[in-house]
Amino acid sequence: MQMDIGSKAARRFLEPFRGKACSPPPIWLMRQAGRYLPEYRETRTKAGGFLNLCYTPELAAEVTLQPIRRYGFDAAILFSDILVVPDALGQKVSFVEGEGPRLEPIRNVNDLRRLDPARTARTFAPVWETVARLRQDLPRETSLIGFCGAPWTVATYMVQGEGSSDQAEARLWAYRDREGFSRLIDILVETSISYLDNQVKAGADCLQIFDTWAGSLPDDEFDRWVVDPTRRIRESLRDLHPDVPVIGFPRGAGPAAVWYVAETGVDGIGCDTATPPYVMKEAFEDEDVVVQGNLDPLLLVAGGTQMDERVDEILSLMAGQRFIFNLGHGIVPQTPPENVARLVERVRKGT
Ligand code: CP3
Repeated sequence: MQMDIGSKAARRFLEPFRGKACSPPPIWLMRQAGRYLPEYRETRTKAGGFLNLCYTPELAAEVTLQPIRRYGFDAAILFSDILVVPDALGQKVSFVEGEGPRLEPIRNVNDLRRLDPARTARTFAPVWETVARLRQDLPRETSLIGFCGAPWTVATYMVQGEGSSDQAEARLWAYRDREGFSRLIDILVETSISYLDNQVKAGADCLQIFDTWAGSLPDDEFDRWVVDPTRRIRESLRDLHPDVPVIGFPRGAGPAAVWYVAETGVDGIGCDTATPPYVMKEAFEDEDVVVQGNLDPLLLVAGGTQMDERVDEILSLMAGQRFIFNLGHGIVPQTPPENVARLVERVRKGT
């Protein structure tokens, strides 16, 4: 089910990865499908549970397409979640309305017995089917981004059992029993490779690895649990699909983002909200990498001329570079949909 080369060549989104700066830059937004859209809330109610939405190809494809219909983004991102990986491995995962994810925590090496990589394909199958459906239904010129959570970030949820501000349980396990924790990371590396490989086989033409909690680790630990696993995933994917670019999003990495790019071999670097635009412009100049970012999602909530000015500033600084416009983190639920329309128009108009 590989795509024909002709339609892929027509996708503007992929141009920066082929070495070409685009003006205006391609645009998509993290969490572009979600609760800020009334049509998402309607489909979500129909689906019942959140995981049900992720595992029902018809509904997952529908919510992926909703922001494309409204705004015509250059890329769609598969609707799923980073926590389908622990779910597929056999850990109990649920989403509590208004509270976020809950998992039966895995706290030590003995708990790893509860995980079974052999059973994951059965759970992933509907996600891959969603990708195949999307490739059929999307406009030919729209790219389709597949994704997974980075092993470190997924592990923080698996070990903590919920979201946390300091990821303490995973960090403590990693310090106390490096060997045991690395077995969990290894399981996640292998599972993520096969999950992404099959997303590409079904029609994804770009991949993003979300490392939301990359910023909670000091240097050696950052190398061990963020850089190394991401490099292994990136290398395997390159062997399997040499033409499919991989974007890394090591949120909070700060100056280590440059090191991350050099060592992992990612083709794109997602910059978070705290990265100053002049750093986006200059820090990666020696790296062969596409820069993506980084409007503050709260500025998208506020909208108005404040937003316009910042958008113009980012656009003019990044002009002439291989750049993709995005937010510095995901869209939040209170975002007025009309502000997203205003943003897209502003970016497309150029400066
Ligand atoms: O549009 C898209 O970007 C694609 C879909 C997508 C979702 N989650 C849908 C979702 C993607 C790429 C993610 C990634 C994800 N999930 C990350 C990494 C990126 C980031 O935002 O930092 C993380 C850490 C998760 C884990 C997760 N999923 C949390 C912490 C929560 C609860 C918080 C929240 O926003 O509600 C989720 C739930 C979730 N994933 C929702 C959506 C649209 C909201 C659930 C709902 O509809 O009730």
